[in-house]
Amino acid sequence: MTIALNGRVAIVTGAGGGLGRSHALSLARYGARVVVNDMSPQGAEAVVNEIVAAGGEAFAHVCSVTDRAAVDAMAAAVLDRWGAVDILVNNAGILRDKTFAKMDLDDFAAVIDVHLMGSVNVTKAVWSAMRERSYGRVIFTTSSSGLYGNFGQSNYAAAKMALVGLMQTLALEGERHGIRVNCLAPSAATQMTQDLYSPEDLKGLSSDLVSPGVVALAAENAPTRTILLAGAGAFEQANITMTRGIYVGEANDAAERIQAGWAQISDRTGEQAPASGAAQYHHEVNHPDRVAMR
Ligand SMILES: NC(=O)c1ccc[n+]([C@@H]2O[C@H](COP(=O)([O-])OP(=O)(O)OC[C@H]3O[C@@H](n4cnc5c(N)ncnc54)[C@H](O)[C@@H]3O)[C@@H](O)[C@H]2O)c1
Repeated sequence: MTIALNGRVAIVTGAGGGLGRSHALSLARYGARVVVNDMSPQGAEAVVNEIVAAGGEAFAHVCSVTDRAAVDAMAAAVLDRWGAVDILVNNAGILRDKTFAKMDLDDFAAVIDVHLMGSVNVTKAVWSAMRERSYGRVIFTTSSSGLYGNFGQSNYAAAKMALVGLMQTLALEGERHGIRVNCLAPSAATQMTQDLYSPEDLKGLSSDLVSPGVVALAAENAPTRTILLAGAGAFEQANITMTRGIYVGEANDAAERIQAGWAQISDRTGEQAPASGAAQYHHEVNHPDRVAMR
């Protein structure tokens, strides 16, 4: 199965270095015209030059994803120049690591602002245009820190898991408009991770080994509502699931029954990955144990 992105227009945020640079180069290699966004003009221009030197089309748009007016101007400039935005890779990010006990809440807010609100701003700026053309591929960059937790990264983990919730809902809202929305959780050796991962592990974690995941999620036949994990050339999927659980009902000792039932509540046999949030109450109202008691 070959992938062609010829004629597609992609915006990659934070593409002046690290993973964003690899994503931008990969999308361009598959034929997409790429808007290289970053706060760093040098970084963004260097990546544009690399794409153009390889025969691709690209231009830089230097702004912070937290600046709503500037982001709207970026979307307007892309639509003006190329008439569409088909692919959006929300990749820009920062770290402000500290344990929660020592965390300055300004640092907490800054991380939420860049990762969550930055992704919201850029996605909102292109959403109507994607709906109008009944086509869009949106990728949010989440993280194992959000999915599974990471010591010293409460702000980052909260922001990254918020993006999973955003993805779950935008995938539902985008479905009938041809917009597919997914999350990518990368592992890569970049300036962000050079002090976090061991030198030995960093050797195998080139950003270039992650970007094929972005290309697959940007493709016409991309899935929707998936969380793709990618690193060192390996790809996995994370799922948000619901176990079968137990029915306790109105028993006076309901709390004690929950305590006694932890093993069953957490038993993953027959768990499901709900198609939407409504699946929870449907399952609860129709819980097999409850139905059996009727
Ligand atoms: N490297 C990893 O292993 C890893 C793991 C999980 C998630 N991620 C996520 O992947 C994404 C890319 O990370 P990276 O490792 O390449 O980091 P990086 O620091 O190398 O690159 C981040 C880029 O984003 C840009 N940027 C920062 N704030 C911005 C803003 N407000 N507006 C526009 N651009 C901005 C930076 O200038 C930089 O070029 C981030 O969202 C990060 O959280 C990375």
